[in-house]
Amino acid sequence: MHKIDKNIVLVGLMGVGKTRIGREIAKILHMPFIDADREIEISAGCSIEEIFELYGEQGFREGESRVIERLLKEGPIVLATGGGAFINPETRSRIKNDAISIWLKADIELLLERTGRTNHRPLLQNTDPRKVLTSLMDKRYPIYSEADVIINCVENISPRAMGHKVKDEIIEYMGY
Ligand code: S3P
Repeated sequence: MHKIDKNIVLVGLMGVGKTRIGREIAKILHMPFIDADREIEISAGCSIEEIFELYGEQGFREGESRVIERLLKEGPIVLATGGGAFINPETRSRIKNDAISIWLKADIELLLERTGRTNHRPLLQNTDPRKVLTSLMDKRYPIYSEADVIINCVENISPRAMGHKVKDEIIEYMGY
């Protein structure tokens, strides 16, 4: 059993599976798992959708940055972040300093299929999801590529199997 004494932070676009895969990584490595969006909801006392409605995206980003800063200090944990977190330069540099960052990368079809299953994401409501996600890929993929480890996500691999794949890559990255 490898003991990982650093935070592990998952970044990547909406729908790629950061939460589901993150939970599996945490189980495999015997580390606590935290979902940053859920923590933001707990500290705000309302849902992400309500935060966007009440305070706008900017207000959400400020809360997101504060919550992630606190969580990284409390670690080591496995942390799933919302898709925009790593795009914020301050949050990114905190993650780069205090964690091993993992970009879960996927193509547009997989993201569309997975985000299409639910309707709770403010950035995808009342829009053409393909257009929004393609534009986010253009803007964000060059930034996500600064992560320490990049994992390609494809259909038909279970979260458990993905968890093992990520664990193997982390171990290789750490040079164990
Ligand atoms: C966002 C992604 C969401 C959530 C918010 C904004 C984004 O999280 O943080 O709706 O900017 O990509 P998921 O990536 O977990 O869907």
